[in-house]
Amino acid sequence: MNSIFKAAVAGTGAYVPEKVLTNKDLEKSLDTSDEWITTRTGIKERRIAADNESASTMAAVAARQALESAEVSPDEVDMIIVCTSTPDVLFPSTACFVQKELQAFNSAAYDISAVCSGFVFGLSIAEQYLKAGRYENILVIGSEANSRIVDWSDRSTCILFGDGAGAVLLKRVEQKESIGVLSTHIYSDGSLSDLIVVPGAIGKAGVNKKDIDDKNYFIKMSGNATFKVAVKRMSNVILEALEYNNLKIDDVDHLIPHQANQRIVSAVAEKLNFPEEKIIMTIQKYGNTSAASIPIGFEDAKRAGKIKPGDISVLGVVGAGLTWGSAVIKW
Ligand code: UT7
Repeated sequence: MNSIFKAAVAGTGAYVPEKVLTNKDLEKSLDTSDEWITTRTGIKERRIAADNESASTMAAVAARQALESAEVSPDEVDMIIVCTSTPDVLFPSTACFVQKELQAFNSAAYDISAVCSGFVFGLSIAEQYLKAGRYENILVIGSEANSRIVDWSDRSTCILFGDGAGAVLLKRVEQKESIGVLSTHIYSDGSLSDLIVVPGAIGKAGVNKKDIDDKNYFIKMSGNATFKVAVKRMSNVILEALEYNNLKIDDVDHLIPHQANQRIVSAVAEKLNFPEEKIIMTIQKYGNTSAASIPIGFEDAKRAGKIKPGDISVLGVVGAGLTWGSAVIKW
């Protein structure tokens, strides 16, 4: 459907907790080393939420920044989409807590669950509402308190994840404007649901002793198998985005990928012939912040002066589900 409207990023924000957990710190409690973690993942340190922080509190800080930079007041927000796999509680949604914190009571607020792909899924949903002309201002927030769902005795997963939040205020603009979300593509394949899962059967069997004993309320991952699938799906969906927009690699100013593993990003870049210097990486500082990693990347790159008006960024994500997707943004 041709629309006279499109979505544009009018403001960004990000928040990471103060507490830093380095690889060296992890060496004290796990059979691991800074050398192993750095060479296998690119991660040097990650942030850990304080006891009084959660997905909603971090999301609210990031969202407030996004509103301020877009010069939009909380009561002008029509919708709040929080992309998270670590909600404060099972229900109500984390987005409702964010709404309360922001006093943004003219909005519909809800969460979506697409794990590490969440932010691009949220962007895609928001894009449809804005294109349709139904709404004017939508907050899309990725926020994760991953430290609460990792098994700190499992060296194959706990070294990977960190906490944080990132947000964008998406605004409805006319097609003739030069800035905007140029495309979103999102996909899922539930036949790969076993690759990364928190299997604790709250909805099936309730909280039960067996799941507690088996540590099933924590992340379980087949790292190696996920790695291979991630490289393939992310490369293909980025290519699809470029083709859809008639863009060549040279036309793109940055690749902003989900930060799961430096080696996944390097393999994708090699497959696509994408120059490493155009890739925005934050994994060394924050680890894998799941749905927050892309919007944290926006803010980090902006503060470093790497994103300028008129630049074109391509986003690529893959996560549990399996879910994957891409988007192209003109700033
Ligand atoms: O965000 C959602 C998507 N998530 C991903 O895409 C994650 C994808 N997977 C990965 O990033 C990587 O598979 C990992 C970083 C998780 C693991 O790296 P790997 O190169 O695939 O290692 P591996 O699982 O094949 O394990 C190699 C060895 C094993 O020892 P053995 O069996 O060869 O003796 C592991 O036990 O490394 C061992 N190992 C560790 N050693 C030191 C696993 N974790 C650690 C550790 N420190 N933290």
